[in-house]
Amino acid sequence: MPHFLDLLAVPASELRAVLDESHRIKAARGGMPKGRLDKDAPFKGETLALIFEKSSTRTRFSFDMAMQQLGGRGLTVSASDMQIGRGETIEDTAKVLSRFIDGIMLRANSHNTLLGLAAHADIPVINGLTDYNHPCQIMADLQTLEERGGDLSDMSLTWVGDGNNVAVSFINAAAKFGFKLRLSCPKAYQVSDNILAPARAQGAKITVIENPLEAAQDSDVIIADSFVSMGDKDADARLEDLMPYQVTDAIMNAAAKDAVFLHCLPAHRGEEVAASVIDGPQSAVFDEAENRLHAQKAIIRWCFDA
Ligand code: CP
Ligand code: NVA
Repeated sequence: MPHFLDLLAVPASELRAVLDESHRIKAARGGMPKGRLDKDAPFKGETLALIFEKSSTRTRFSFDMAMQQLGGRGLTVSASDMQIGRGETIEDTAKVLSRFIDGIMLRANSHNTLLGLAAHADIPVINGLTDYNHPCQIMADLQTLEERGGDLSDMSLTWVGDGNNVAVSFINAAAKFGFKLRLSCPKAYQVSDNILAPARAQGAKITVIENPLEAAQDSDVIIADSFVSMGDKDADARLEDLMPYQVTDAIMNAAAKDAVFLHCLPAHRGEEVAASVIDGPQSAVFDEAENRLHAQKAIIRWCFDA
């Protein structure tokens, strides 16, 4: 079953094809009204369940509109309104939904819940973020970088801040798209070797540089994300520990001229990023947000067409 759970599990050639398809899909729509169907509308009458164990703005609306443009529909449900919220197993949920839904996107607290769903579903399962990773986001981010004229395999990207779920998907993408990735996180917030090792084994070029100004030096892309992710309990300690990793003008100035600033959003100005950076000319954050729609349409096609 073609599930989209983890970039490391998908062959590089297929991810490349998904990204190419995403560029094609975006270009093909031109200035069409947002609710209008794509010319081919390949999934007429098909339904993708959109299940959320935690909050979402971009993922929720972009998947819903993606299915609409593809000719089908998204069916959004909060997990707390389902019987899984009252203890029904994820295995039973997978088997039941497989009987009358065409695919499932899940945003889960625990990656194990997603794996359990995928293991027991006879329909495609797409990862809409877990505590471990956020692969759909990174496909949109890479599309954003390519649109600005870059060849990913020539680029050097720097992640600044918490070594979190979004960082993990950049690490996994580094193994598939050939860019160099620098990780700049305080010691206690670094990504573990368990995560780095399999990506490196697939060819990821990753360096760990604790000092953010040093890590940013001549980098083509600077990336930030929240210091406190959904589900993190220790907000006060995180904010204090991570504040020296705020992406400031000084960090952008250390990077290459015209370096791109990325952030998956939601952002917290004055915490992980200065307002002058995220609202400044080098920021690509709203293109990233838009590209969630296009990239996810390519991902849905990859899952449904297989
Ligand atoms: N970037 C992202 O996944 O945003 P949401 O949490 O709003 O879906
Ligand atoms: N790291 C953030 C990303 C939100 C899209 C979180 O998990 O809350």
